[in-house]
Amino acid sequence: MNKLYKTKLGEYYIGDSIKNIKGAFGKKFKGKVQLILTSPPFPLNSKKKYGNKQGEEYKKWFAELSPLFADLLAPNGSIIIELGNAWEPGRPVQSLLHLESLLAFVGSKDADLRLCQEFICYNPSRLPSPAQWVTVNRIRTVDSYTHVWWMSKSDFPKADNTKILRPYSQSMKRLLKKKKYNSGKRPSEHVIGEKSFLSDNGGSIMHNLLEFEQIDPERDLRLPQNIMSFANTSSNDYFLKACRQKEIKPHPARMSSQLASFFIEFLTDKNDLVFDPFAGSNTTGYCAERLNRKWVSIDISDEYSEQAKIRLQDPELKTTKLKLLN
Ligand SMILES: C[S@@+](CC[C@H](N)C(=O)[O-])C[C@H]1O[C@@H](n2cnc3c(N)ncnc32)[C@H](O)[C@@H]1O
Repeated sequence: MNKLYKTKLGEYYIGDSIKNIKGAFGKKFKGKVQLILTSPPFPLNSKKKYGNKQGEEYKKWFAELSPLFADLLAPNGSIIIELGNAWEPGRPVQSLLHLESLLAFVGSKDADLRLCQEFICYNPSRLPSPAQWVTVNRIRTVDSYTHVWWMSKSDFPKADNTKILRPYSQSMKRLLKKKKYNSGKRPSEHVIGEKSFLSDNGGSIMHNLLEFEQIDPERDLRLPQNIMSFANTSSNDYFLKACRQKEIKPHPARMSSQLASFFIEFLTDKNDLVFDPFAGSNTTGYCAERLNRKWVSIDISDEYSEQAKIRLQDPELKTTKLKLLN
């Protein structure tokens, strides 16, 4: 495998991750990865440039990743996989392939994984798709989220939701100030104690619906502090601007850097190792570098690897020195 570049914290390789996990690379990192964070090629119906498989072939391929990934994980490590929906070719019918693939992945006997939690990553500015049924026939609504599955070999992988607290809502802030609210039984049968909401814990606990852009500009977008700072920086702007300048077409399926940093913060500590086997433009490595985690990334495509260099040249990464090896 060709090492393309490295920094103090990470390394980016060009190669086939599956072949390499089965070989010397897999041996080197066995049991050492705290977080595998990746968006694999999606089960799309139209073949994209980066080699998507389809139907049963996809499911089989996806399930085979499961024991390979499990072997790399530290005993309390986590796997985060982001996958979008797929549709039946030529029909306004959603495919079940992503769900079947998840069942096959998590059900693999050799891997002993479990689904810790499913997250929905909602993108309000997603272009209308599937276009035929949404914009022409107007018989479906916009498919606007991806699934994010969190899996582990343990029921209790390393995780700490106090690291990803979001700012309190305005009404909660008022309540904390006034120290008064209606306690008692709610219509949902929940009993709210007289003091349950009176202590200030520094923020509210995140939900498993992740929204990284405001739908309503008047409404506060309540992301954790660190994620908010990612949202406010020019990370994507820098990457897109630099791609434009170099006349490079940016990777068509980039992961949201807020999503990557959310899970890195939540599931790892400083210096833990984060691995992305389908790294593309290296969003995962970029976010890991910013959050002081070690990282390893692999992608099979020369073209995407080339643009992955741009990410780590972002001036936001003030202390990062990129050493090009190829
Ligand atoms: C959905 S994209 C990932 C995009 C990435 N998360 C980003 O933010 O740019 C999937 C990537 O998997 C890569 N890929 C497909 N098969 C691969 C393999 N066997 N080994 C390594 N990379 C592979 C493709 O080149 C593509 O860049």
